[in-house]
Amino acid sequence: MADIAAENALERVKEYTGRYRMQHGTPPLCYVHSFGCQQNVSDGEKLLGALVKAGYEKCGSFEQAQLIIFNTCAVRENAEDKVYAVIGDLKKFKAAHRDTILGLCGCMAQEKKTSERIQAAYPQVDLIFGTFAYPRLYELLAEVLERKKRVVDIEETAGEISEDFFQLRENKFSAFLPIMYGCNNFCTYCIVPYVRGRERSRKPEAVEAEVRQLVSDGYREIWLLGQNVNSYSYGFPALLRRLNEIEGDFRIRFMSSHPKDATPDLIDAILDCDKVCKHLHLALQSGNDRILKEMNRRYTAEDYYKIVEYARSKREDFSFSTDIIVGFPGESYEEFCDTKKFIKRVKFDNIYSFVYSPRSGTKAAGLPDGVSDKQKGLWLRELLLEQREVSTQWLSRFVGRTCRVLIDGKAREPGWLTGKNDENIIVNFPCADEGMIGQFVNVKITGSMNWAVRGEITE
Ligand code: SAM
Ligand code: SF4
Ligand code: F3S
Repeated sequence: MADIAAENALERVKEYTGRYRMQHGTPPLCYVHSFGCQQNVSDGEKLLGALVKAGYEKCGSFEQAQLIIFNTCAVRENAEDKVYAVIGDLKKFKAAHRDTILGLCGCMAQEKKTSERIQAAYPQVDLIFGTFAYPRLYELLAEVLERKKRVVDIEETAGEISEDFFQLRENKFSAFLPIMYGCNNFCTYCIVPYVRGRERSRKPEAVEAEVRQLVSDGYREIWLLGQNVNSYSYGFPALLRRLNEIEGDFRIRFMSSHPKDATPDLIDAILDCDKVCKHLHLALQSGNDRILKEMNRRYTAEDYYKIVEYARSKREDFSFSTDIIVGFPGESYEEFCDTKKFIKRVKFDNIYSFVYSPRSGTKAAGLPDGVSDKQKGLWLRELLLEQREVSTQWLSRFVGRTCRVLIDGKAREPGWLTGKNDENIIVNFPCADEGMIGQFVNVKITGSMNWAVRGEITE
C-alpha cells in the first residue's frame, strides 16, 4: 500500500479515526471475522493490521464495532449460506446503528454473481470488496466514510504482492504466513482460481525475513500457506531448507500441497530438516482415475501412491492427511468405493471430506449428476466410518512413544491440556497449568482413540 493514492487515503481514514477519538474519548472499534481457509484467516489479520494502523482498535464482538468486516469463503454452498445468514441477521442491527459500517470482502465478494446478489438483496451492506482490492482498502473505506454511500470494488486486477503490511495475528505462538497466492490448476469443481487469480509467489528473502521476525517475537510454529504451497515458484524444498537454518526453538508446517508437484525432493527436505514437521497434507480428492481425470487433477491414484511409498520407504510411518470430495457429478458407487479402498491403502492420519457442492461458473457445475445429495451424504458417512477404522488402528503406533507437543489450549476434560505433535495429531494430557499454553512439552503416549492420542508429560 505504498502508492500515493493509498497514502492519501490512509490520511483520510486517520482524519476520521482522530475526529472520532476527539469526540468520544476512545478510538473507533473494528471487528473482522474471517470464514474459510487459513489463507483467508491470514488475509483477515492483514486487514485488521491495516485498520489498526489507521487508528481503529480491534474489538471482540460486532455489537460494539463502528466497522464490521466479514471476510467470506465461497468454496462450498454451505460456506456461502453461513454468510447470507449472518448478514441477514444484521439487518435489524444496522437499522438501529446507522453509522456502523458493514463490509463484506473475500472470495464470495470477488464472485460477480454473488456480489450482485448481495448488492440487490442486502442494502445493509455498505462496502463490498473482492480479494484483489485489499491494496485499495484505505481508498474504499475513505469513500464510504466521506460519501456515506455504498462502495463496491470487485475488479479483477491482481497487482504485485505487497510486502508493506502489518499482519495483526490473533495467535501469539502459532503464525500463518502466506508464501504464495492464487491457483493455476482449474480443477473442474473449484471456484478458487476464479476468486484468487493466478499463482504469485513471495520472494524467498521476504519469507525468510518474516520467519526470522516471528521467531524473535517468540512464535513457536509457523504455517507456510498457499493454495498449492509446493508449487512455490522459487522452489519449495529449497525454501524449507533455507528456513530450517534459522536459529530458534520453533517448527515449520505447511499446507496445502498438490500431488502433481509432490516430488521425492520435497519428502527428502521434510526428512532432512529438523524444524519441519514430519507430515504432509496432500489433497487426494478421489482414488478413482476416471474421476481424477474429470476433476482435472493431473495425476492418477498410482502417481499419488508412489509419493506415499517413497516417503514410507524412508520413514515407515510417515504421516499423511488429505482432502476428499464425495459425489463428483457422474461418480458411481463403484468409483466412490475406489476412494474408500485407497484411504485404507494409504493409511491417512486424518481426512477432510466434503460432499461435492456445485459452484456456478466452474466446468463441473454443468455436468449431469444422477446421485442425490441424500445419497452422497450416506457415502460420506461410509467414508468416515472407513477412516475411523483406519485411524483407530494407525494412531495406536504412537502408544509407548514420546512426542514433542506444542500446547495449544485447554482440553475438554477439566485439568487437561491439548496440543499437536509433529504429525499434527491431537495429544491430550493432564496438566492444570494453563500458563504452559504456547510451549513445547514432551508427552509419553499411553493410549489412542480414532481422532487423538493421550499421554503424560515426561522429561
Ligand atoms: N488447493 C488445494 C488442493 O488442491 O490440494 C485445496 C484447496 S480447497 C480451498 C480445499 C478443499 O476444498 C479441496 O481440497 C476440496 O477437497 C474442497 N473443495 C473445493 N471445491 C469443492 C466443491 N465444489 N465441493 C466440495 N468440496 C470442494
Ligand atoms: Fe481448487 Fe484445484 Fe486450485 Fe486446489 S488446486 S485451489 S482444488 S483449483
Ligand atoms: Fe474459501 Fe477462498 Fe479459502 S473460497 S477455502 S476462503 S481461498
